Amino acid sequence: MDFDPLEFFEPGPELPVEDTDNENVGNLHNDDIAKVEANSNEVSAEKIPENGEDTTLEDTIYTIRLQVIDLPLVNASLPVEILSTLLKLFQPDQTKNFGQTSQSTVPSSANMTTSELDIEGLSKDILLYEPALTEDKIGNITWGASLELAKQIVNGNNSIWLPKDTTALTTPILELGAGTGLVTIVLGLLGYRVVSTDLPEIVDNLSKNIELNQLECVKSDPSERIVIDSLVHVTSLDWRAPNEFLNRTSYSNGYKTVLLSDPVYSTSHPYWVKDAVSAVLSRSENAHVVFMVGRRDRFEDVRECLWQLMSDLGLKLISSQIVDGFDDYGTLQYDYKVYGRKDD
Ligand SMILES: C[S@@+](CC[C@H](N)C(=O)[O-])C[C@H]1O[C@@H](n2cnc3c(N)ncnc32)[C@H](O)[C@@H]1O
Repeated sequence: MDFDPLEFFEPGPELPVEDTDNENVGNLHNDDIAKVEANSNEVSAEKIPENGEDTTLEDTIYTIRLQVIDLPLVNASLPVEILSTLLKLFQPDQTKNFGQTSQSTVPSSANMTTSELDIEGLSKDILLYEPALTEDKIGNITWGASLELAKQIVNGNNSIWLPKDTTALTTPILELGAGTGLVTIVLGLLGYRVVSTDLPEIVDNLSKNIELNQLECVKSDPSERIVIDSLVHVTSLDWRAPNEFLNRTSYSNGYKTVLLSDPVYSTSHPYWVKDAVSAVLSRSENAHVVFMVGRRDRFEDVRECLWQLMSDLGLKLISSQIVDGFDDYGTLQYDYKVYGRKDD
C-alpha cells in the first residue's frame, strides 16, 4: 500500500495574498507582461476595484498560472512547515523521528537508519530500524502514536487494561498494525508475551526490530500455524482478512488485549479495523481494545467513524483521555481510548 507522508501533514490556513509580504509573487504587472507572453499563453487579467471606483488599466493585475518549475518563485508564500517537511523527506539519513526524543541516528547502510529512543522509566534504550524513504511503506516509519502508547505502558497509565498478575504475563497481547514495533518491544522488555502483526510487507522489518532489541522472537509466514512459544511472535494480519490469521492461531477464540496505534488514515480504515477487532477480540468479559490515535484535523471524520464503529460492535468506552505528544511534524494531541466488553 503506497502512502504519501504529506497526507499526515496539516498546513495552516491559507494566507490571502494581501497578507503576505511578497504580494507580487505569482502576479505580473503590465510592464512584465511582454516578457511572459513570449513564453506562455496562460495569462489572465483581473480587475481590482478600489473604493468602488472604476478600474483603470494601471489597476489591472495579470496573473499567470503557476507551473511546477515556478515553485521557487512562490516559496515565500508556503508555510514554513511545508518547506521543512519537504527538506526532511529528502534527508533520509538524518534524525527524523519525534524531534528531541530520537537521541541519535546511526546510518546502518545506504538504505537504513537506526533510531535510538530513550523512554523515561524504561531501563533500556530502544533501537528501531527504519528503511529510507526511497523504499518507504508507512509501516516502516515509527509514528508518534506508538511512542505515546509506549509511554502510557511504561509510566503505568494502563491499570484498566494491562494485566499485572503472573498468568497475565503468559497470556499474549495482540498488536495490530505494529509498524516498526515500538509498542511490542516495550511490552516485551517489561516481560509481556506479544503477538505482533502488520501487513506481510512490513513484518520483516518488524521482526528485525524485535531481534535488534535482543528480545526472543519467532516469525511465522502467512501459510504457517502460529505457535506462541517465544516472548514475541511476529506474523502478518491484514485487517481486511482477519480470519486468515484466526485460522492459524491457537487463540481461535480471540485475544483479551488488542492494541492499535495510529491505525486510521483513510475512510476505509475504520471499517477494516472494526472487522479485525470484531474477529480477534475475545468474547471474554475482561477483553479490552486500546487505541492511541493522533488528533489530526484532516482525519477527524475518520476518527469519529472509528469510535462510532467500536460502539456499533457493542464495545463500551471505558476510558478516554487526550494526551499531548509529538511526531515528525511537530506537537500533536492523541486520543488514548480503552474499550471493553463491559464497564470496568
Ligand atoms: C500510521 S502506521 C502506524 C504504525 C505504528 N502503529 C506506529 O504507531 O508507529 C499504520 C500501520 O497500520 C498498518 N496497516 C495499514 N493497513 C493495514 C491492513 N489492512 N492490515 C494490517 N495493517 C495495516 C500499516 O502497515 C502501518 O504499520
